[in-house]
Amino acid sequence: MTPGVSLEILDLRHFTAPLLRPLLEIEGDVWQERLHWDYRTSTRLLMQYLDSRMLPGYAAVDAGRVTGYAFCVYEETKAVIGDVFAIPHGAMNGGGVDQRPQTALEIETTLLRHLFETLQNSPHVDRIESQLLLHPSGAHARAFREAGFEVYRRLFLVQPLAGMPSAPPVDLPPELEMRVWRDDDLNSAGRLISEAYAEHPDSVINDQYRSPHGSLRFLHNIVRYSGCGVFSPQVSHIVLERATRDIVGLVLGSRVSGTSGHITQLCVRPHYRRRGLGRMLLGVAAAAFLRQGLSEVSLTVTEANSRAIELYQSEGYECQHTFDAAVWKRNSIG
Ligand SMILES: CC(C)(COP(=O)(O)OP(=O)(O)OC[C@H]1O[C@@H](n2cnc3c(N)ncnc32)[C@H](O)[C@@H]1OP(=O)(O)O)[C@@H](O)C(=O)NCCC(=O)NCCS
Repeated sequence: MTPGVSLEILDLRHFTAPLLRPLLEIEGDVWQERLHWDYRTSTRLLMQYLDSRMLPGYAAVDAGRVTGYAFCVYEETKAVIGDVFAIPHGAMNGGGVDQRPQTALEIETTLLRHLFETLQNSPHVDRIESQLLLHPSGAHARAFREAGFEVYRRLFLVQPLAGMPSAPPVDLPPELEMRVWRDDDLNSAGRLISEAYAEHPDSVINDQYRSPHGSLRFLHNIVRYSGCGVFSPQVSHIVLERATRDIVGLVLGSRVSGTSGHITQLCVRPHYRRRGLGRMLLGVAAAAFLRQGLSEVSLTVTEANSRAIELYQSEGYECQHTFDAAVWKRNSIG
C-alpha cells in the first residue's frame, strides 16, 4: 500500500528527542510486554543521538506527529539498521479518523525501504546488517529479500530461574581455572570470539565476529556502552588456561530489566568443546543472575546453530519469540 496523503517520510535529523518521546514510550511498552526488556536505557542513548542531529534515518510524520522511525549507524563501510518502529497511521488522532488506515507494519516497511534506498545508493556502504529483535520473524522478511538481503531466522529463548541452584558445581580439569570478568580481559576475549566463530553461521550475520579487531568492537559495545542492557561483571565469567593465561571459554551477561538477565555471549575454544564447559558457564551465569534477584534469563541463537540450541533446550530454555537477521552485501546484487 502506498502511504496515505497525510503521512510524510522525512529525514530523522530534522527531529529532536522530545518529538520522538511519545513514540519511544509506546515502543518501550512493547519491548517490556514482548521481551521483558526495559527499553529506557536504549531510549536515553537514542535521544542523545537524536539531539545531536547526527542519527541517520527516517521519521514517519502523521498530521505533524512522529508515528514511526527507523535509524542506522555506520561502522566504517558497514551500516547497521538499528531499529524500526511505528504505531498505526491515525492512532495518534484518536483512531479511526483516517479512512484508509495503514498498519504499523506498512509504515515500518515504508521506512525500511527509504533506508535501503539511501544506504544502497551510498557508495561508501558495502554491507548492511540488521537484527530487528522486537519484530516477529517474517514481519519484514519480504521487504528485506526484495531489496537483495539474505534473511536468517533467530530464536529468543528464556529460562525461568526459580528453583535453580544458586551455586552450581564447578568441575574443571586441573589445567583450567575460572574467575569473574575483569575489564582487562577484553583483548584476550576478542581473540577467543574470533576463533570460536570461524566458519560459524553467526559470523555470516555479524561480520564483527570474523576478526579479533571486530570482536573487540562487539565487546566494547556490550561491556562499555551498554549496547545490550547493563553489563554485569558479576555474572560474566571466563575460563583460563593456567599455563598460557589464554581465555578458552566465556559467558557474558547483562541486566535488561529489574526481572530479566540476558546472556550476550557464550563461546568455548574449539579444542575444549564437548567437555561440559559451555553448560557449566551457562549455569554459573544463571546462578549469578538469580543471586541478583532476577527471575529469568534470556538469550538469542541463530536457528542454524543446532548444537547450541540442543544445549539450551537441555538446560530448560524455551523459545518465546523469533526474529530475523538480515545481511546485504554490495557485490551480492552484481
Ligand atoms: C555452543 C558452545 C558454547 C558449547 O560449548 P561446549 O563447551 O562444547 O558445550 P558442552 O560441552 O557443555 O556441551 C553441552 C551440550 O551441547 C550440545 N552440543 C555441544 N556441541 C555439540 C556437538 N558438536 N554436537 C552435538 N551436540 C553438541 C550437546 O547437547 C552437549 O551435551 P552433551 O555433551 O552432554 O551431549 C560451543 O560449541 C561454541 O563455542 N560454539 C561456537 C559459539 C556459539 O555458537 N555460541 C553460542 C551462540 S548462541
